[in-house]
Amino acid sequence: MAEETTFRNIMGNYPTGVTVVTANTPEGEPVGLTVNSFTSVSMNPKLISWAIDKNVSTHDVFVKQQHFAVHTLAHDQGDVCMLFATKGTDRFSQVQWSPSANNVPVIDGYSGLLECKVYDTIEAGDHTIIIGEVIQAVDNETAPLLYHKRTFGPVPEEFYK
Ligand SMILES: Cc1cc2nc3c(=O)[nH]c(=O)nc-3n(C[C@H](O)[C@H](O)[C@H](O)COP(=O)(O)O)c2cc1C
Repeated sequence: MAEETTFRNIMGNYPTGVTVVTANTPEGEPVGLTVNSFTSVSMNPKLISWAIDKNVSTHDVFVKQQHFAVHTLAHDQGDVCMLFATKGTDRFSQVQWSPSANNVPVIDGYSGLLECKVYDTIEAGDHTIIIGEVIQAVDNETAPLLYHKRTFGPVPEEFYK
């Protein structure tokens, strides 16, 4: 049985990008959270996955909704990353956003946008894995925000040499 701190440390030392995933409640209110468990799954069909903690207040919304949007954050969106991970604040009153043609909330300033319809959900321990089929993609080609050991920042300059 792996020790919890060793597991946490190994995962924390695995760098990722950062996304914000959004959807609507059945009443049409926008919801969203910061997510770094996002990954690509399949090319044909185009599938992505992410995992949501069962304790997140909007867990049931995301599991029951048919559509959601994944925003891959740009290098200058550290504030958006923090905002969408902070409990007890009205997240959407503090960003510029608008509904997409599929009526999913889209936040301005992203690097890439993947609008998805739910393909499958899988219960996995204290999380639910949500697999989405990409129905719309927009690439702003902006440099991404990276996340490593609980801090975030831009891609180091040497990567561009
Ligand atoms: C960089 C980063 C990555 C995160 N990734 C995930 C994730 O993949 N899945 C998840 O459920 N929560 C993740 N979180 C935590 C959620 O954003 C946070 O628990 C959520 O916004 C709480 O929402 P609530 O206040 O509606 O319960 C992450 C937080 C940060 C800062």
